[in-house]
Amino acid sequence: MSKLIHPAARPDLDIAQFASPEQIAAVRRPLNQAALLPASFYAHPDSHALDVEKLFMRHWLPVARTSELPEPGSYFTREMFGEPILLTRDEQGQIHAFNNVCRHRNRVIAEGHGQCKGTLTCPYHGWSYGLDGSLKGTPFMEAAENFDKLEYHLPRLGLDIWQGFIFINFDVDAPLLSPQLKTLDQVLEPLKMSEMACLDFDRYQAPWNWKATLDNFTEAYHQPTIHAGIDPLVPGRGAIYDDVDGPYNLFWIPNAPGTSFQPVLPEMENAISGGLVVVNVFPLFHLLIDPSAIMWLDWEIRGVNDHDLIWRMMVPPESTQVENFEAKKQELYGYVKQVWDEDVFACVGVAKGASSRFTTQGRLCPQEKSLYQLHNWLVDQYER
Ligand code: FES
Ligand SMILES: [Fe+2]
Repeated sequence: MSKLIHPAARPDLDIAQFASPEQIAAVRRPLNQAALLPASFYAHPDSHALDVEKLFMRHWLPVARTSELPEPGSYFTREMFGEPILLTRDEQGQIHAFNNVCRHRNRVIAEGHGQCKGTLTCPYHGWSYGLDGSLKGTPFMEAAENFDKLEYHLPRLGLDIWQGFIFINFDVDAPLLSPQLKTLDQVLEPLKMSEMACLDFDRYQAPWNWKATLDNFTEAYHQPTIHAGIDPLVPGRGAIYDDVDGPYNLFWIPNAPGTSFQPVLPEMENAISGGLVVVNVFPLFHLLIDPSAIMWLDWEIRGVNDHDLIWRMMVPPESTQVENFEAKKQELYGYVKQVWDEDVFACVGVAKGASSRFTTQGRLCPQEKSLYQLHNWLVDQYER
């Protein structure tokens, strides 16, 4: 099947429109000499289109948990960057990812999520599709000549399942994600994330660039100044930034025993020995792991200075049964909200500063090693 040229595609965008070769080279200098990603990548009116072209249309994006397709016949839909996505679980239990657009007159086929009996039917003229994406029913098409249903399969998206998360890739030729995360698997394995329950936690609208949010969650350097209240308990200066061998980064904050002030869930405490672990899988999969829960930061990114951050909480299924779980969740919410409000204060100021025409390229602190890894990955992708 031949793809149409997308009217919003921006093949013209080039890294040179956002930064000089010297500025890019400065990002790539050794850690102790490096500069940060220039502000134009956060504020230029075309920076969102650049991110869509170079990052989101080419790399692995977390879409759902496997538990959101609980049994054969389950379907789940979502839109990312204007692209309607359909996930299904077929009769054999296998998960599929498709472009959720009818092969007749392009109506979106399924909406929301739910359970079907083997086929999904487009509500416009009634074409129906199997859970494997094959076209099944085509009302009144008997008289159509040279029409072969086999040629009207739903377009597949790249699909990979890792740690209980369903990732899709709009680039179907991209190499699979999970083989690139084998070292990270060793860190995460004791947590048994694929068995965890995933609960809605909160959603925040953020009127600044999504990368400012990601940067903010990617280093502990800002903790003593922005989060002076929590820093003595979880000291940011003690953060350990790992070397990595794939499209991810992580850092640890060892936590003094007994100082955890969130509601602790025993299984989690055993798994990470009272520490705090922050993980990014580039470009936008983010986990904040502490002894009370894992926070999965999910995103809806709409424009240069417009995104929602969707916080989802993951815990071992047994933990949801502990006494006062809801009260513990609320206690954690109170803590997270306070920290988030402090981060908002930082990010609102960044949005203002990054759009100033007098802004110069910032200098990285060696304590921001995770940012160094992220920004180098970003310039590699922007240059491709
Ligand atoms: S657009 Fe789907 S059946 Fe016509
Ligand atoms: Fe913060």
